[in-house]
Amino acid sequence: MSDITAIEQEALAAIAAAGDLAALDAVRVAELGKKGRVSGLMGALGKMSPEERKAQGPLLNTLKTRVDEAIRVRKAALEAAELEARLVTERVDLTLPPAPGPGEGALHPVMQVFEEIAAIFGDMGFTVAEGPDIEDDWHNFTALNFPLGHPARETHDTFFMKAMEGDTPKVLRTHTSPVQVRTMMEEKPPIRILVPGRVYRNDWDATHTPMFHQVEGLVIEKGIHMGHLKGCLIDFVKAFFEVDTVVSRFRPHFFPFTEPSAEMDVKYSRKGDAIEIGEGDRWMEILGCGMVHPNVLRNCGIDPDVHQGFAFGMGVDRLAMLKYGMPDLRPYFEADPQWTRHYGFSPWLTPSVSGGLS
Ligand code: DAH
Repeated sequence: MSDITAIEQEALAAIAAAGDLAALDAVRVAELGKKGRVSGLMGALGKMSPEERKAQGPLLNTLKTRVDEAIRVRKAALEAAELEARLVTERVDLTLPPAPGPGEGALHPVMQVFEEIAAIFGDMGFTVAEGPDIEDDWHNFTALNFPLGHPARETHDTFFMKAMEGDTPKVLRTHTSPVQVRTMMEEKPPIRILVPGRVYRNDWDATHTPMFHQVEGLVIEKGIHMGHLKGCLIDFVKAFFEVDTVVSRFRPHFFPFTEPSAEMDVKYSRKGDAIEIGEGDRWMEILGCGMVHPNVLRNCGIDPDVHQGFAFGMGVDRLAMLKYGMPDLRPYFEADPQWTRHYGFSPWLTPSVSGGLS
């Protein structure tokens, strides 16, 4: 047996015997490293006579290629085995409940209220839709019947992004209404969607934060009228505040994207510091709503002579404050664990209409 064949057999045996990546790398260094055996033989080629080199060169090249290839194959096998072993030992049991105590997390009341609202409207056949926080002017304003230069645009205190060259600036969406547009452009009626999301306005005081949360609703079907809107929203308020009676009124208002438009007020009473929604001697505004404006339907490719619809939008932060008696908006965003533990909810209890909301 020639030297080269013996070396190859030895190297291949050492590669096969390497039990882990470190052992395999040691073989690689010993054979193919700068001072390795195969590298040494290759280096010696330079000192050979041309005839010798002609005979030995191809043999050594083949040796080097085979050793190299065997190392590569073994390495892939060892890596796969290592991953397999890690997957077995590092498995986490996600069904285990967390240990009780200070380490336990709690669901933020805003997230809880998102879930509650989705459960109530889910029960009425709505599905949840979402859209991007960074929106273009067309979806946020123009398609919703805010023409360029319309004064209603100014009321939104919009955050504008820096425009890309040759482009109009994008905005941080000022409301969840652009998701109405996105949905109508993509889906055919009947449509019943609920849109929870973050919205942004350049506003900052005791009752306003530059980022806040809204839920938008949209229904597009044949023959939809204001009666459907009222029934749906009154049912929602009863379910949300968990009361049997809600005295409400729909006060005419203006939104560019609905006609007619209204704000919904509900009666409430004050008992000491607490507020009880449903009956009482005062009115409280809780949401905006209206029949979808024919221009909006047309902008989204829906024929207003065939389909009609209603829409509504509400501020979730304030609804959470009202329902859970939180007097101040600012701690919402301070991530104080004591506050979260006091006002937060168990992440394991999903609100449902039949099983209970809160
Ligand atoms: N987009 C409105 C706002 O942020 C809220 C709103 C009002 C949404 C009426 C609607 C609606 O869909 O019909 O002020």
